[in-house]
Amino acid sequence: MKKILTIIGARPQIIKAAAISRAIHTHYPTLLEEHILHTGQHYDAAMSQVFFDELGVPKPHINLGVGSGSHGWQTARMLEGIEQTLQSGSYDAVLVYGDTNSTLAGALAASKLHVPVFHIEAGLRSFNMAMPEEQNRIVADHLATRLYAPTQTAVNNLIHEGLDTHTLLSGDIMLDNTLHYLPQALHSGILQRYNLTEGHYALATLHRDFNTDNTTRLQSILQALGQIAHTDGTAVVLPLHPRTTARLKDQHITLPDGILQLPPVSYLDMLALEHGARIVLTDSGGVQKEAYFVQRPCLILRPETEWKEIVDEGAAILTDADPQRILEAYDTLLGQTVTRHALFGDGDASSHIINDILKHIR
Ligand code: UD1
Ligand code: UDP
Repeated sequence: MKKILTIIGARPQIIKAAAISRAIHTHYPTLLEEHILHTGQHYDAAMSQVFFDELGVPKPHINLGVGSGSHGWQTARMLEGIEQTLQSGSYDAVLVYGDTNSTLAGALAASKLHVPVFHIEAGLRSFNMAMPEEQNRIVADHLATRLYAPTQTAVNNLIHEGLDTHTLLSGDIMLDNTLHYLPQALHSGILQRYNLTEGHYALATLHRDFNTDNTTRLQSILQALGQIAHTDGTAVVLPLHPRTTARLKDQHITLPDGILQLPPVSYLDMLALEHGARIVLTDSGGVQKEAYFVQRPCLILRPETEWKEIVDEGAAILTDADPQRILEAYDTLLGQTVTRHALFGDGDASSHIINDILKHIR
């Protein structure tokens, strides 16, 4: 029996962990023992506990309770806590997801102690080094023992950086999750709770630092969302990340009429909202992909994306924070049919990843 330490901290990592934990529990309970370390990067119940309760992610063995702060401070506290955990337990491997500060700290702490690092969602690049996520993912990829690339584009990026011999094209574990949870999500009841009609609202999310912490960009995006709500006479539903809620408060910004602000919602509620939306507008990596998975068109409120295949397919348009581009893209994509092709694997990425991990643990 091999023992693996899974590092999570931010909302999307808890959701991703559900796919791998489920696959370990179902298919490999006698081969792999998983311990979960939660860094505490996200800590509000709606950003953390709700996903454990809803998705059956095992309760973390360790919660470092790090909380919010500047990048260096936050990462340093995580690094220290993860190092101590690795020194006191006999772990055969560390599993990290994505590109947050928790990912960076996990990969760095493990590799300095010569514990093999397995990186899920490897190889993504925005080619924008100003993004903290780009810094984190490049370092994590270069420290990792095995890299699990969700798409061929990610594999190509890793080949370009000389990492191909450590790479497996696994597919995307978030497709596994969408396929697994969508039938259940459609009974979540969130549309009824907020009086929403399928196909008659737009769904938006907004949390990237370059959008929230730049008042001009934030105002421009909100203005465009307000205009969409006004012109169409339908709601723009906006489940808001606490970072953005905090910025609206500091900057004394009120939302335009027609925007329905919600607290962060659960994953099943989010899948239901995505599926019921006529169109999705987002700066989230996970949400732009899920829009494609549930076959809804998407406006990406960023200058570039790591998930460029969705844009190449014509299912999404990059608009940045430019109201003119947002409104034009909205008109172009509204009512367009999106067909999901096999760009993100076969829906069983978790099994491919665990089989590969088992082959590479000493
Ligand atoms: C982090 C990740 C980002 C990911 C996002 C997922 C980094 C550098 N960024 O961004 O890649 O897309 O998570 O959601 O790791 N806050 C709360 N309650 C919480 C958590 C956060 O109020 O439970 C507020 C605090 O004001 C905090 C701010 O949100 O300062 C930002 O949180 P932080 O985890 O630093 O970054 P995110 O923007 O969430
Ligand atoms: N999500 C959620 N509730 C919300 C907003 C998002 O459950 O209110 C889910 C979403 O379905 C996706 C993931 O969180 O699976 C994306 O996380 P986020 O947008 O915070 O970060 P990113 O993917 O950009 O790193």
